[in-house]
Amino acid sequence: MSKFSKLTGLFLSIVLILMLTVGCTGGSAPSDSSNGEETGKKEIKDIKIGVSVGHTQEERWQREIDMFQAYADEKGFELLVQSAENNAQKQVSQCENLFNQGIDVLILQSLDASAVAPIIDTAHQEGIPVIAYDRFAMNCDLDYYVTFDSFKVGVTQATFVTEKAPKGNYIWLKGAAEDNNAHLVADGQKSVLQPYIDSGDIKIVLEQWCKGWDPNEALKNTENGLTSANNDIQGVIASNDGTAGGAIQALAAQGLNVPISGQDADLAACQRIVEGKQTGTVYKPLAKLNLAAMELAVALATGEDPENAIDPTLGTWTKLNNNAKDVDSFSVDVMAIDKDNLYEILIKQDQFQKLEDVYKNVPKDQWPAA
Ligand code: GAL
Repeated sequence: MSKFSKLTGLFLSIVLILMLTVGCTGGSAPSDSSNGEETGKKEIKDIKIGVSVGHTQEERWQREIDMFQAYADEKGFELLVQSAENNAQKQVSQCENLFNQGIDVLILQSLDASAVAPIIDTAHQEGIPVIAYDRFAMNCDLDYYVTFDSFKVGVTQATFVTEKAPKGNYIWLKGAAEDNNAHLVADGQKSVLQPYIDSGDIKIVLEQWCKGWDPNEALKNTENGLTSANNDIQGVIASNDGTAGGAIQALAAQGLNVPISGQDADLAACQRIVEGKQTGTVYKPLAKLNLAAMELAVALATGEDPENAIDPTLGTWTKLNNNAKDVDSFSVDVMAIDKDNLYEILIKQDQFQKLEDVYKNVPKDQWPAA
């Protein structure tokens, strides 16, 4: 009996020692940073997240910076934001500056998709993971990508215009060639346009990129298209609301109002839609994208599991290739908005715009019943 209890005691001691040993090594969670270093866990109040955006020219980007800030304030961590204002070189040096300030994770909205690889390389030398935000970072060892389905954006835009104008001369305004999204959007547009072009129903009289998504570029390009077609234009494919605004200005100067698309649900575009000057826009639920990026960034910074960090109701995980690797990507859905659903979705449901702002120039008796 006593021999038995001695053996049991010995066995229990061994189990206890083993448990303690395993417990100790298991205590420091493996880092999720790309270089696989072990950094251990951090309290959320001790983390620093860096955000770098290429520009703030469109309404959406300022909105998104405000959302990032509100989230950081609510959770009590530090957020450092830089905007390169359309200067790709500046974006590189601003990110270096963020690394020097000790950020734990970088959220990067690339100005020039093919010029940001050095940012990711430097980040990794410092053990900092990088999340591409909205726009892809090409040819690099990117850690994560949080985005919308840009191909679907393009399909939606071309569908708006071809449904209203299935035949005729078109001006095709693509986005900024340096932004990968612009290419995906153009691919989506092309998938809808090609059968019409092949059948001869639609003739593209001008096809042009708009550098920097600049409305003035869109204005100039549209003027050129109008001149070459003697103002005989039946539709304009514009890739975002800013460039749609430039094109509409050029059309209006010639007394024209033709079907035209957009993207971003900017206030000016929403006003044009309810006033019958723009056919539709593609709404990107920015709050969802923003929250997904923040949840992922916080998980990476605190050492939690990144794959389970994002609320699954916000979108879906997928893999997207950036010419160097298949990047773990989280994709948020987009929505077609026109005169018929603008009030319901953008104003009432998502409170993305306000009734009095959107309908500002419309007589009150024509406002939707609130
Ligand atoms: C794109 C983005 C659009 C639009 C555009 C202009 O990358 O997908 O939503 O905002 O940039 O900044």
